[in-house]
Amino acid sequence: MVEIARRPAVHARPGHPDAGPTPPYAVAASPAPHVVPFTRTRICPEARQAVADVLESGWVTSGQQVIEFESELAAYVGAEHGVAVSSCTAAIELALRALDLPPGSKVLMSTVTFCGAAAAIRHAGHVPVLADVDPGTAMPSCANVAAAAAGCGGVDALVVVHLAGLPSDVRALAEAAGVDIDHVVEDAAHALGTVVGDEPVGSISRATCFSFYATKNLAIGEGGMVTTDDPELAGRLRKARLHGMSADAWRRYLPGGGWRYDVAVDGLKANMTDVQAAIGRAQLRHFDADQARRAVVAARYDEGLSGIPGLRRPPRALAGRHAWHLYTVRVEPAYGMGRDELIDALRARGVMTSVHFIPLHHLTWFRDHCIVPAEGLPGADQVFDRILSLPMDAVVTDAEVDQVCTALADCSRRGIQE
Ligand SMILES: Cc1ncc(COP(=O)(O)O)c(C=O)c1O
Repeated sequence: MVEIARRPAVHARPGHPDAGPTPPYAVAASPAPHVVPFTRTRICPEARQAVADVLESGWVTSGQQVIEFESELAAYVGAEHGVAVSSCTAAIELALRALDLPPGSKVLMSTVTFCGAAAAIRHAGHVPVLADVDPGTAMPSCANVAAAAAGCGGVDALVVVHLAGLPSDVRALAEAAGVDIDHVVEDAAHALGTVVGDEPVGSISRATCFSFYATKNLAIGEGGMVTTDDPELAGRLRKARLHGMSADAWRRYLPGGGWRYDVAVDGLKANMTDVQAAIGRAQLRHFDADQARRAVVAARYDEGLSGIPGLRRPPRALAGRHAWHLYTVRVEPAYGMGRDELIDALRARGVMTSVHFIPLHHLTWFRDHCIVPAEGLPGADQVFDRILSLPMDAVVTDAEVDQVCTALADCSRRGIQE
């Protein structure tokens, strides 16, 4: 009989008969650090039931849930109308198209933002003009927008972003850019809950565009909305989000609804479904509590990071309220370690981070399809090398925030010693 040698099992514990001989030396196992994710999406338990109800109802695409979500979100931000769509990117494109600008119009925007807004300007048939930013806020100041507008002979519209949830003075920027407030579209992807002075974002310009993407303060997974006080604009957006059809399927199939429709405008397929809207409605009921928690997290970071040399905490809202979508620090030269090296060092300590954003003029397609001043965008270049977004959401624990602060203090000491 052939004797088959038993090999130690791959995952046998030391001391177990399958584990093989004990090594003659002690292996010091360093415990893996607890991983603090950059962000976690929490969908509230009520959303599950709400989705189940929609799935049972026999109607899962745009219908009554969307109508309710639109009016609840519009009321929350103090606007007359909400038009729910598939994403904030689609919202920006539809809002720009609804302004009826001549094709090829120049639309001013920040270079330090997500690429979706610039893509939306292009898809609406216009040309993004990239403005530099104030290194303090990472957003364009009035001087920045005035310089960008003057540098290209004037602009026709303006997209204002409230980066990280920090309020941007929409009216002052419009004036500095020489653009009527009716030609301002707000990219409020980070700014549900932001207040500018005493005006909630969503109630200021003619069209404000929100995102319900998985990482956003009100997360559905995907989705967006335009809020406006202009009934005519809202009507146009409602048609344009669904192929330009004069009546959506929900209305056509209602008792008394007719089967005929017309298509009189060039539309997109960018509607929101009732499944998404049901999640959004449930999440909205938790939104104030989530925002309060984000503010507590920001305050805990502020305290935990104070005194670390070369680590600048995010700017405060001078007038209004920050929505704390992101908590973005600046890694200054005095920190002793560069931003990129710090990202790796934090990852080794279980802390996941991100960078918001790679400026658009650093991205090949946008560099080639946007107006970029010949002298470059030096404020944005400086900001880009230093910005680092720390874990931030409504579920990060105090212990996790403390772990992030300890890791940042530790990396600073090492960087300075080396
Ligand atoms: C500032 C900003 N604008 C627009 C968007 C696009 O949002 P959505 O994914 O809903 O199209 C994002 C998404 O991350 C963003 O961060």
